[in-house]
This record gives sequence, C-alpha cells and structure tokens, in this order.
Amino acid sequence: MKTYNDNDLCWCGLNKLYKDCHKDFDLKLEEKRKMGYLIPPRRMIKNSLQIEGIRKAGIINNGMLDYIEKNLRPRMTTEEIDRLCVKYLKENDAESADFHYQGYPKHICTSKNEVVCHGVPSDYVILNEGDIINVDATLVYKGYYADASRMYSIGNISKNASKLIRVTKECLDKAIEAIVPYETTLNDLGKIIEGHAKRNGFSVVHEYCGHGVGLSMHEDPLVLHYPIKDKTYLIVPGMVFTIEPMINEGERFIELDYKDHWTVYTKDRKLSAQWEHTIVVHEDSVEILSK
Ligand code: MF3
Ligand code: CO
Ligand code: CO
Repeated sequence: MKTYNDNDLCWCGLNKLYKDCHKDFDLKLEEKRKMGYLIPPRRMIKNSLQIEGIRKAGIINNGMLDYIEKNLRPRMTTEEIDRLCVKYLKENDAESADFHYQGYPKHICTSKNEVVCHGVPSDYVILNEGDIINVDATLVYKGYYADASRMYSIGNISKNASKLIRVTKECLDKAIEAIVPYETTLNDLGKIIEGHAKRNGFSVVHEYCGHGVGLSMHEDPLVLHYPIKDKTYLIVPGMVFTIEPMINEGERFIELDYKDHWTVYTKDRKLSAQWEHTIVVHEDSVEILSK
C-alpha cells in the first residue's frame, strides 16, 4: 500500500493535504489491522463529495418508492409500476441503472409472492388482494448510484405474509443498528440477519447479497446475509453499501426462471420478502441514504 507524507494530496481525491484528511483514519486502521481485523482497501472508501452525490441519488430513489406506494392499486400490473417509474425518473432527471444492465429489459424489479428477486415487470403479472410485492430500484443521478427496495401489500394479506414482511424489515433494521464504525465486521451483520430470521422460523437466501454501491451499481465488498468462516471486512467510515436480506417463509433454496433467465423463485414456491437500503458509514454514526 502506498504511504503518504503529511503534505501530499490525500488518496481520497478530495484535494486536501493528507495530514488534514485521511491521516488519522489510516493510523486508526493500521491499529485495527495489527489487532487482527481485515481492513477494507482504499477503493472501498468514498470521500465527502462522492457521499453528497450518492445522498442526492438516494433521496430520489426513496422518493420513487414513496411514489409507487401512493399509486399502487389492486388489479394493477407490474408493467404499470415500471411505467410509473419511467415517468418519475424522467421528472427527477435520473435514470434507471437496472435498464439494460446485463441485458435486463425493464427499469425496476417487481418480485411478487414466491418471487425472491429480479421479477421482470410484465403486462401478465397482476396484483390482487392478498399479494405481497417487492419493488427494487437502482438509479443513477449525476453519475451517482443508489439502490433500495421495499415490500408493499395489496389489501389484506395473510398473517404469515405480514409476519414475513415485518421480520425481514427487522433483519435489515437490526443489522444497520448494530453497526459501530471501526468495531463491527460484515460477518456480524450476517449473524444478526440469519439469527433473527431463523428464530422466527424463516430462512435466508444465500445466492444474493448486498454490495458496495455509489460510483456504479455493484461494487466491492459483498455483504452476505449469513455468517461465514472467513474473516470479513471491518466496517469503517466512508464505506457505502447496501444491505438487502431476502428472507423465505419456507426453505432457503431458489430456482431461476428457465425462460426469462431473470426471475428467481423460491424452490418450494412459498413466500419470499426483501428490504434494501443504501447506507453510508460516518465517524460515529450510520446514515441511511435511501430514506
Ligand atoms: N437492484 C438490484 C440489487 O439490489 C440489482 C438489479 S438487477 C437488474 O442489487 F437486473 F435489475 F438490474
Ligand atoms: Co442492491
Ligand atoms: Co436493489
């Protein structure tokens, strides 16, 4: 790793002298490294200008999910939700990052009931009383990316559906609340999420995870929603990433749609829920950017 002198310009790109910028940060990380922690590389650390840009993208992203909430009606199709988003994005000078991402054909993902994620908006998917649906949107605003998703329910839903939605949100909230900058590791988040899901009789999807975000849609690090044996990164100021647990009512296993190669279902066709936030870590707090 390159070392910096006091009067060098800082590596973060802010055009400030190293001694007035990330010097103390680097010293602190070096201490943590000696204690045995895995330290995130500098490319995972955003500067305050970048964070300001991602913050603006996050406000629009969250506004779009609010806008959907106001306009959701029984008998609506997921294609209509996609069209609402196209309109909203245009009015807000933003663009869908999902559109054409690895060939993805729509502007958001709409995952209903047994769909775990990446449900493709369609004229043939109709929302009926009792359905639950996740809308996931990644957008770009002036070059900065934000990514968030929510659950919506159509009319009255079953007891277990509402428990699944609640517990999944709690998994996300508890993970965010647990973050103490310079103390918590990504593995701690996985432990909390899986622990809370399992205690409630649910399971955690393993195949998809949270991720760094901001200058593109998917950046390092991977943010797993279950713990692993390997060392994982220490969570430190300047990191911007999503947490987006997918929690299943039944077993954790999934199946990819053999026709569209996007839609992911639960293997047992029981319900699945997901919530996602983009967060930024500060010196002694965590800020939810998609709020
Ligand atoms: N929003 C998703 C995520 O949370 C990714 C979208 S995949 C796409 O990472 F194909 F829709 F773009
Ligand atoms: Co995401
Ligand atoms: Co997303």
